[in-house]
Amino acid sequence: MSTGTTSENTLRFPAGFVWGAATAAHQIEGGNVNNDWWQWEHNPESGCVASSGDACDSLHRWDEDVTIVSDLGLGAYRFSLEWSRIEPAEGEFSVAALDHYRRMCAACHERGVSPVVTFHHFTTPRWLTDRGGWEAPDAPERFARYVERTVAHIGDLIGWACTINEPNVVAVLGYTVGLYPPGMKDEFVRHFAVNDAMVRAHRLAVDALRSGPGSFPVGITLSMEELVAGEGGEGTRDAAEQILENTFLDGTAGDDFIGVQCYERTVLGPTGPVEPPPGTRLTQMGYEYWPQVVEYTVRRASAYTGLPVVVTENGLATEDDTERVEFITTALEGLHRCISDGIDVRGYFVWSLLDNFEWHLGFGPKLGICAVDPVTFERRPKPSAHWLGTVAKANALTPPPA
Ligand code: NOJ
Repeated sequence: MSTGTTSENTLRFPAGFVWGAATAAHQIEGGNVNNDWWQWEHNPESGCVASSGDACDSLHRWDEDVTIVSDLGLGAYRFSLEWSRIEPAEGEFSVAALDHYRRMCAACHERGVSPVVTFHHFTTPRWLTDRGGWEAPDAPERFARYVERTVAHIGDLIGWACTINEPNVVAVLGYTVGLYPPGMKDEFVRHFAVNDAMVRAHRLAVDALRSGPGSFPVGITLSMEELVAGEGGEGTRDAAEQILENTFLDGTAGDDFIGVQCYERTVLGPTGPVEPPPGTRLTQMGYEYWPQVVEYTVRRASAYTGLPVVVTENGLATEDDTERVEFITTALEGLHRCISDGIDVRGYFVWSLLDNFEWHLGFGPKLGICAVDPVTFERRPKPSAHWLGTVAKANALTPPPA
């Protein structure tokens, strides 16, 4: 094992460990009017607090974004492709959109950054949601066709591929909780059907990715939590773990990695989540401050799947950037313990490169390592950005003395 401590408290990561920052098309591009989220944001009943609008205008400023990643010293940029731009109408593919994403991948390579490409990050084209979205019987095939067409165009430039981002969140928030489109509540049967459809879509997409040009690791990225049984909550906890996580982990056999995305721990009682007690340190999202979730979920994902793990998202919603460094430091200490114990962890991506559109919560929560001016779109790297770049360049973390 190539990890270890170089000086008393410096934690060295394995050679080739990937350090990166992540974004998603709808949260940063702006003007994504042709998908279900745009519709949802503009539905007064949805509870969304803002339109994604121009977001961070990354559709035009993507080159600046790639440059920031590179200048910071991070080795990878995880971004997503907007399906509704690539396939604006069923079966109609936009070469201009494909060329756009090809330029992004090429720019990453020119600057020594590996492009980590996600094919679905929450948004679905309206032509598909108009006929049922993930409930449409052919949705997995339609997704695989888009992936196949896209990889034919950009596959030679892909560094890593993520098929679907947090399908578990799409399904639970869309069909049981009602916060995400299509805004259904307690539609458990439909929720489970969408789980199954997304697992099938993932498997078809893996095949499509492997049949195209290029040679790159392929996986899915999953939202994982530390789910804890409170008083009498064992059954609820086990059920939640099964429905939210294991269903998808079971669908990863044969993949090259599992992407773990983790932010929180949740205590479950007999009927569902239990609010953290008063006085608990909370993040801007209302989650308990719990950086230990990285170690917990990485260990679990690895033990369950046997696959190499990439932390494809982790971070903190806070206005206090010092707190972000503190959070990521604790998270990385836990990750390093995993690696020291022999767990195959390949990388860590902070969410997010930019303060951006946090779905139904709008632009309130600040998860970025760079601030973005809402009027000029100027990007301003925060101290945490430079700090993470230093960690990446050293491939080592020196935590402050306790
Ligand atoms: C996971 C999602 O993939 C991302 O879109 C979101 O912004 C972060 N979690 C933070 O909530």
